Amino acid sequence: MAVRKIKDDVFSVGANHWDRRLFDEIIPLPDGTSYNAYLIFGSKKTALIDTVDPATENQLFTNLKEFKDLKIDYVISNHAEQDHSGTIPKILELFPEAKVITNKKCKELLMDLLHVAEDKFIEVQDNETLSLGGKTFQFIFTPWVHWPETMSTYLIEDKILFSCDFFGSHLATSELFVNDKARVYEAAKRYYAEIMMPFRSFIKGNIQKIEKLEIEIVAPSHGPIHKEPSFIIDAYKDWISDSVKNAVLIPYVSMHGSTKIAVNYLVDKLIEKNINVIPFNITTGDIGELAINAVDAATIIIATPTVLVGPHPLAAFATIFLNAIKPKTKFVGIIASYAWGGVTADWIKSHLQNLKGEFLEPVLIKGLPKDTDISTFDAFVDKVVEKHRALAIL
Ligand code: FEO
Repeated sequence: MAVRKIKDDVFSVGANHWDRRLFDEIIPLPDGTSYNAYLIFGSKKTALIDTVDPATENQLFTNLKEFKDLKIDYVISNHAEQDHSGTIPKILELFPEAKVITNKKCKELLMDLLHVAEDKFIEVQDNETLSLGGKTFQFIFTPWVHWPETMSTYLIEDKILFSCDFFGSHLATSELFVNDKARVYEAAKRYYAEIMMPFRSFIKGNIQKIEKLEIEIVAPSHGPIHKEPSFIIDAYKDWISDSVKNAVLIPYVSMHGSTKIAVNYLVDKLIEKNINVIPFNITTGDIGELAINAVDAATIIIATPTVLVGPHPLAAFATIFLNAIKPKTKFVGIIASYAWGGVTADWIKSHLQNLKGEFLEPVLIKGLPKDTDISTFDAFVDKVVEKHRALAIL
């Protein structure tokens, strides 16, 4: 990513990681990602906000070389995760006078994760300000977007919020600013679903905090920059709200077709009842898609055969994943097929305890579904319809 000017004396100097396809060894990145870093010049001091993942450090160094006789006084670390902090040690080698500005928690993490020496830090408190000379930062603690130490940095004169992961999107693009809103919305929702969703209540508090600021630009650390802050802030408000959509998400696995017959029947019947249905084949699907659809689906139904007395291992994985990302799902269903026994439905229920929705009576199928199972499926569909109507979403 080349150097680009955002405003006078405010530059984007980060890196695109076009071909990265996996994050944290679990999260698919269909569109790659970027690690945004920002260079800000005041009349007296210069600051770099965040760095880049070490895999792309040369892009950052090449960009910094564009600035003749550059001297960095401060490296502001909004978040200790290595995709933003991992190049801090090398920046400190290149600019030995530079101090790392961050909060106490982030400092401790950077010392643990990157072995940054304690005397390199200047600790800041929530809402504290720092002047570069004509450019003044205000540090706003925004915990749990994504780690407990994460903060945002507000540039008062230019009304720019450098929000780090908050409001970001895994999207490698040559466009500095949001242009294709639909694409950015999808990528930002995916990102929210994968790492922010478990912390909905904290995000509410963080949004209340940043809404006290006058923001013209939201500059996250992944994906393009927002010149229309309300676009992304309103999207977040919708995702963290308690409201759900008239949708049923059905993550499923089928080995010999019995579970698939049940899923197909449910899909058709729910569509007939004007409910949006998202069947998700766990064996081939991108779990980011599972996460996105879990953000606001009113109902999630996990469907699986029984394998060695419990759910198919891939259904168990999806169960644990959904439990970890804690969607606001209102109703949870389980469809378990079996041949001679097992505890599949109980296992799934006991591993979804982070979901606060109501568990519907599980549907159990012995062998290939029979005509007698159809009435059970119909009753299950009727129950979902009744529940969605009760929420006034259908
Ligand atoms: Fe983009 Fe939590 O790091």
